[in-house]
Amino acid sequence: MYRAAFLLAVLSLMSPAAEALDNGLALKPTMGWLHWERFMCNINCNKDPDNCISEQLYMQMADVMVKEGWKDAGYEYVCIDDCWPSYQRDAQGRLQADPQRFPGGIKKLADYVHSKGLKLGIYADVGKNTCAGYPGSLGYYEIDAQTFADWEVDLLKFDGCNLKWTMLEEGYVKMSKALNKTGRSILYSCEWPLYEWAFQKPNYTAIRETCNHWRNFADVYDSWSSVKSILDWTVVHQDIIVPAAGPGGWNDPDMLVIGNFGLSHDQQESQMALWAIMAAPLLMSNDLRKICPRSKKLLQNRLIIDISQDPLGKQGYCTAKFDSFEVWERPLSNNRLAVAVLNRQEIGGARGFVIGAIPGWKICVPKCNVTQILPQYKEMGVQTSESKVILSVNPSGTALLTVTPINSDFTRMHKLRWQDVSFKHKQATIL
Ligand code: GLA
Repeated sequence: MYRAAFLLAVLSLMSPAAEALDNGLALKPTMGWLHWERFMCNINCNKDPDNCISEQLYMQMADVMVKEGWKDAGYEYVCIDDCWPSYQRDAQGRLQADPQRFPGGIKKLADYVHSKGLKLGIYADVGKNTCAGYPGSLGYYEIDAQTFADWEVDLLKFDGCNLKWTMLEEGYVKMSKALNKTGRSILYSCEWPLYEWAFQKPNYTAIRETCNHWRNFADVYDSWSSVKSILDWTVVHQDIIVPAAGPGGWNDPDMLVIGNFGLSHDQQESQMALWAIMAAPLLMSNDLRKICPRSKKLLQNRLIIDISQDPLGKQGYCTAKFDSFEVWERPLSNNRLAVAVLNRQEIGGARGFVIGAIPGWKICVPKCNVTQILPQYKEMGVQTSESKVILSVNPSGTALLTVTPINSDFTRMHKLRWQDVSFKHKQATIL
């Protein structure tokens, strides 16, 4: 009895401050595929039929997702981004898909995707036009929400272009309510804070109550400098954004660009590891029809996906920066910890990092069990707080570990965890 009450008290302390959007969705970070970074607004189906934004692209991606193990690994949503609609609404004011590129229409595409056991995502914009100039939803929130529900769409990415920033809150909240009113479960992916940060600090309590995930920062590109800029922004703002994340609502650092052209394999491992630590949606933007085996193996790595999808649902923090290393830590269920050590020095070869320098390493009192997941799977066995084990981390690569405490009694563990959190906050202000 006492133990149950204590557990409840601990759990209530641990739950995020704000209530999540209550639609029962995104209890774990969303997994799937989204066209934008790789295929952008390629609408030239005459010259480039295999890569243009057309129903064929999503059907082929859905086929591959089932055949090549993506669905089994947890990737579920096949998502359309900008440039799908016709420039004109229909006679009833409804959005319609471009008839040349989507001859079957979105409802048929949704049926196809559902027949594969997957879900379909679509894209719209809170303002007058989408970022690429297609019709926006301003003045049509209810009609568009109902249209998406009638088509049996499962996710809406709602962009924030072409609207005065002071109207963002009203627009995003109205669309959230309109989606809810349809009675269909439609996961709601927002870009509200990204468009608001240029003017003021967003209200993350309101955002969490409205959206299932939200973009905070600029679009990801297929380059290491882009991935680094997203990580750097996150570290600077972590005290504001990390507490907002939890089951039902997540910070979205944008798509995984693994399997494209711009990242070395070490950099791809870093993106995968850090996106898992950040409890980020895992929305790949790549060509699953021709991805290389190494990138595929990384994206389907069950141990990294388990960190991403951990049921405790807490986003990690960057807990230390020194000697051009960054340490990131995410608390996991059963008092475990995921740790990523990123080597930010982009000259020379692999560098050593002593495990005991990880701030959360105190969970290894008296002992812990350590598994290295990246760069290679390795059971590192039982360690103590005195452990002198050295990780070898390549330039712009990451070592990813899980740490499981052994023989630590329940009460003391939680005490340590709370010290840990306050340490993180202190550390965050120093960073
Ligand atoms: C914005 C978004 C991107 C993408 C494009 C489409 O830039 O942030 O993710 O949706 O619009 O035009």
